[in-house]
Amino acid sequence: MLNNEPNITKPPLGGLGVFILAIESSCDETSAAVCYDGKIRSNITANQTVHEKYGGVVPELASRAHIQNIVPVVDEALRVAGYELGDMDAISFTQSPGLIGSLLVGSQFAKSLALSLDKPLIAVHHMQAHVLANLIDDPKPGFPFLCLTVSGGHTQIVLCESPTKMNVMGETIDDAAGEAFDKSAKLLGLPYPGGPLVDRLAQQGKAKFSFPEPQIPELNFSFSGLKTSILYFLQNAGKSHVYKEEKIATGEEQKKFIDDNLADLCASIQERIVSILLNKLKKAAIQTGIRDICIAGGVSANSGLRKAFEEMGKKNHWNTFIPAFEYCTDNAAMIAITAYYKFLEKDFADLSVTASARASW
Ligand code: KG4
Ligand code: ZN
Repeated sequence: MLNNEPNITKPPLGGLGVFILAIESSCDETSAAVCYDGKIRSNITANQTVHEKYGGVVPELASRAHIQNIVPVVDEALRVAGYELGDMDAISFTQSPGLIGSLLVGSQFAKSLALSLDKPLIAVHHMQAHVLANLIDDPKPGFPFLCLTVSGGHTQIVLCESPTKMNVMGETIDDAAGEAFDKSAKLLGLPYPGGPLVDRLAQQGKAKFSFPEPQIPELNFSFSGLKTSILYFLQNAGKSHVYKEEKIATGEEQKKFIDDNLADLCASIQERIVSILLNKLKKAAIQTGIRDICIAGGVSANSGLRKAFEEMGKKNHWNTFIPAFEYCTDNAAMIAITAYYKFLEKDFADLSVTASARASW
């Protein structure tokens, strides 16, 4: 049973009257949201802790956890919104990109609901949804705007001309910004996912170590060199970023160096990742002349990035936008808002639509 509270009193609502149920299951968060005329009425997310002991997301375990979570999460999203499945005008889901097993759970569930309720189905691109998380709350950016989307799997600068028209101006050629945080954290012996821990520790440290900034053309990014230079720096117990076999520090020396400098190492790594991101964003702003500038994605929860972004915005007379914390990491509210704009354009998917691990947009 998805609805176990039969006597729900529905709050009075105005507007077009479009209700959308959204489901997000691209990676390791099972999330469902209800939106009404572009306003989020609920956003429920179940985090999967099962992956922690493996140091990363295990795709098979993620799919199984989605299967367990999806009914209670959808149920709770409807309950919190105060509506029933039968009130929904469309069912939306994350079609791509992500882990295929995880995507299949959400997409099959959404397709079954749409079929049984005889309601339209809306397929949403996860990265497009991260960008539109900036349209959930007021104040909203005006079009066209730029968005730096930084997550565990992607790093992109997107030019957003309308809710449904976006172009990727630049992206990472190797690791994503979230991966750079997580892999650096792993080198420091921190558990997965390390990004939020690096953030927390960085607040107690000073960026006293300098890691090199890669010289990548255009608006593209690269983070794999940073990871290597951190590795060599630790292997040399803080004396050099260059690989020196004959002088490699012992495991104990490396561990001591990390223990003695953990907060400063986190602050230094975070500062470099943030500067790589914001230098490219500034370049995109100058190139386009656009002043409404957003950040989005899991890494936009990073306090160092948020602060530096606001400061850069003030200095350059930008209007800056950052989604509320709960809409930065993976969530169904961003799927719902994207689906709402697709609904307005009657951009519905056929029931034969399939989830896809990778898809351009
Ligand atoms: O957008 P997201 O929830 O999932 C993907 O679509 O990938 O992003 C997850 C990524 C992870 O790499 C995680 O470590 C990172 O976002 N992250 C952070 C912070 N919170 C989440 N990285 C740095 N600082 C944070 N506060
Ligand atoms: Zn994401």
